[in-house]
Amino acid sequence: MRTHDRLRIAIQKSGRLSDPARDLLARAGLAFRESRDRLFCYGESLPIDLLLVRDDDIPGLIAEGTCDLGVVGQNVLEEQALERAASGQPEAYRAIRDLGFGRCRLSVAVPNEWEWPGPERLAGLRIATSYPQLLARWLQGQGVQADPVVLSGSVEIAPRLGKAEAICDLVSTGATLMANQLKEAAIVFESQAVLAAPAQHFGDARAELAAMLLRRLDAVLSVRA
Ligand code: PRP
Ligand code: ZN
Ligand code: MG
Repeated sequence: MRTHDRLRIAIQKSGRLSDPARDLLARAGLAFRESRDRLFCYGESLPIDLLLVRDDDIPGLIAEGTCDLGVVGQNVLEEQALERAASGQPEAYRAIRDLGFGRCRLSVAVPNEWEWPGPERLAGLRIATSYPQLLARWLQGQGVQADPVVLSGSVEIAPRLGKAEAICDLVSTGATLMANQLKEAAIVFESQAVLAAPAQHFGDARAELAAMLLRRLDAVLSVRA
């Protein structure tokens, strides 16, 4: 067991959210000594450390108590929350602040040449995605029955490989869709980076550290807004 007199924040090791997350924490006055493997960064200015991980691992790390807070896309957090709920697990974490960066949308995209009368176009078809829960919730809301095909990456090439007719993936600039002759047809979920925390309050020194960090983050975020 680690001692709980330090706070541990998980952020994405490399990707879209890494630099803005580090920048935000730096503005809040956090400074870190880089470890050689750069997976763990010891906090020098405050007893707050960083863990650099895959974004998809962040909700689980918070749920199991390995990390106390995390900077992660709402899309990842919500997908895994739905998955936990579907398998009867209790709510383990929640988004406590919108961070205003990493904005993107989870969208259904279809081949450029398709006509798009509406979501009913997807009826009975295979849709490749890494977000089966968010997609299923949206399909249900639309009253459309389709077949999700779960892929962990490179979702955009699934139609060309004959693995699916359409996809449901994150769109930011739209460059990935364009490069794969796909067009955005419907928005399933709008996302941005959030600060995630356990559903349960910290019953120790971490409570005060987290409160202090939140005051500092709120000051930084209010200047940005
Ligand atoms: C997403 C998505 C696309 C890309 C779209 O992946 O899967 O590959 O971004 O962005 P664009 O519209 O700007 O081209 P991302 O790298 O964010 O996350 P992942 O590595 O976790 O899939
Ligand atoms: Zn990811
Ligand atoms: Mg990707």
